[in-house]
Amino acid sequence: MDELIKSDLAHNWHPFTQAEQLKKRPPLLIERAEGVKLYASDGKIYYDTIASWWCNVHGHCRKEISDAVAKQAARLDHTLFAAITHEPAALLSQRLTAIAPRGLSRVFYSDNGSCAVEIALKMSTQYWRNRGQAQKKRFICFDRGYHGDTIGAMSVGGVDLYTSHFKHLMYDSIRIPTPYCYRCPLGLEKGNCGCGCVKLLEDALDRHSGETAAVIFEPMLLGAGGMITYPAEYVRRARELTARYGVHLILDEVATGFGRTGRMFAADHADVAPDFMCLSKGLTGGTLPLAATLTTEEVFCAFDEPVKGTKTFYHGHTFTANPIACAAANASLELFEMENTLANVVCLQNRLSENFASYASHPLVGDIRVIGCCAALELVKDKASREPLSAANMAEIDFYNLGFDGGIILRPVANVVYLFLPLAVGEPDLDEMLDRFKFTLTCAADKNIL
Ligand SMILES: Cc1ncc(COP(=O)(O)O)c(C=O)c1O
Repeated sequence: MDELIKSDLAHNWHPFTQAEQLKKRPPLLIERAEGVKLYASDGKIYYDTIASWWCNVHGHCRKEISDAVAKQAARLDHTLFAAITHEPAALLSQRLTAIAPRGLSRVFYSDNGSCAVEIALKMSTQYWRNRGQAQKKRFICFDRGYHGDTIGAMSVGGVDLYTSHFKHLMYDSIRIPTPYCYRCPLGLEKGNCGCGCVKLLEDALDRHSGETAAVIFEPMLLGAGGMITYPAEYVRRARELTARYGVHLILDEVATGFGRTGRMFAADHADVAPDFMCLSKGLTGGTLPLAATLTTEEVFCAFDEPVKGTKTFYHGHTFTANPIACAAANASLELFEMENTLANVVCLQNRLSENFASYASHPLVGDIRVIGCCAALELVKDKASREPLSAANMAEIDFYNLGFDGGIILRPVANVVYLFLPLAVGEPDLDEMLDRFKFTLTCAADKNIL
């Protein structure tokens, strides 16, 4: 075994990974990456079919981004960001506020998606305190949402797998049924429902708006909850309702932001502007850790006072607005413009829809969901009852290792297996990835688990 892998096994603790699994199959040692390909020490090429955890945008090791990073590292590597600024952050905020939904004119930086969410939650509750309404301190969230692994973010999440050991640390949020069209909470038929489930949000607001600071959800695509897609109409009506009930709307665009759904932000499909928008992952093109929480002038002004005192937002991180990460983000946004990346996503979505439609007759496939760069299959035991494949069935199929064998990276979420592609994938690579994915699905069916 490679010495580096031995050292890894001796010392590293990998996220979401059981040591037992690594004894059976040691971690892949990736030596370099280019475009959508990862080159491993075993001599094999692995396609980055989940965009390195939903963050790679333009393909790996783009010269435009690595040059900007090198230039910035040589000029100013880091400085604190309290009452100090620098060119990359000033330019980036100008860019972000120009492309963000209208009214989001203020940017607060941090360095990961969970923190971007924590910051929105904290800003929202402090906003209400600063405005003399301290009783507005709870959150309404989806029962299958995911917003990160820190305690505040877990408290507005709904995926038990990630939170069950930590319930004692979490605060109590108001969970409403997710607009999950395949498993409609109201038993309605997809496309013919008038988005009836938004009534469940209205009911929650009706009961709890007096004590609620904000509603938070992932617009149009719930990632870790199972690549669940739902219509823009829900987002539009949620905006109307939150405005009517005097409650903030926080859109968590950590995964959906930067073109993933075919528009720069998922909120753009609904033409809505939230009170807070959380960004990370694709912000730097998926190259360096950086996150941003965008909000309105109205929120910003609620923290204003003549001298530093009780209204100040006491939150910050050492690496807030790191100049190198901001330079990478600026270079990534330039690439969006230069290469008209969003147009590519529309083509990508069409190809994925066409290709995934062919899985309709696959014995394990209950639902097919495609949006932007993401294409997902929900696997069921029985198409009529829609009973999901169990965790044991999924373990038996073992997509993770099947994917590795076939040279693609697959990490199903519960009974959903999916592709979440870099946006800049070209035709030959896409064909190859789709073929390899199909091969994996054929192997899964051959396992005869039903
Ligand atoms: C919608 C959403 N919000 C927040 C997060 C947390 O981001 P991070 O892993 O950078 O903390 C994720 C991560 O997958 C996410 O998908």
